[in-house]
Amino acid sequence: MVNEQGTHHADLTSFASSLTKSETLSQLVETYLALSTDQPNWVCNLSNASSLLWHAYHSLNIPVNWAGFYVIDPKSPTDQLILGPFQGKVACQTIRFNRGVCGAAAETKLTQLVPNVEEFPGHIACDGETKSEIVVPILDKNGVLRGVLDIDCLALEGFDETDKEELELLAKSIGETCEW
Ligand code: SME
Repeated sequence: MVNEQGTHHADLTSFASSLTKSETLSQLVETYLALSTDQPNWVCNLSNASSLLWHAYHSLNIPVNWAGFYVIDPKSPTDQLILGPFQGKVACQTIRFNRGVCGAAAETKLTQLVPNVEEFPGHIACDGETKSEIVVPILDKNGVLRGVLDIDCLALEGFDETDKEELELLAKSIGETCEW
């Protein structure tokens, strides 16, 4: 489908290879905000955000093997996440708040930057090839936890403070633009 600017939606996943990581991730946040204007559905927005994350990291030659979301499980709202939209291989379906990197981010409402997953107590290995990971909590306008953004990498130390800063902006944008 062609949008008002005369381009295709798929063109929004184009990130120039000349950009720095900070520029690429800023473009990602801007694109997310444009896509979510007048679109509050969380399944729709998290699906396109997963695609943007996947393509942004691959344009940077960072070997991301999973990018997506876990959301609060409506059947167990106080202590469990359930798999949401993502890009990558099949993953664990539910995660308790006190388990793994995702559970730690949910419980503490703080970003978990993990340079080596083998050194993170209780890390859940959905994919044995994952070496590093970043998980950012998603809070709505009222500060209520709605889910987490999770990205895995095949390299050690795949993510740093720049990722943390930009992904926290993305998570804030997601939390505030979606109806949960
Ligand atoms: N490794 C995560 C589980 C989710 S997968 O990486 C997609 C964790 O420890 O919470």
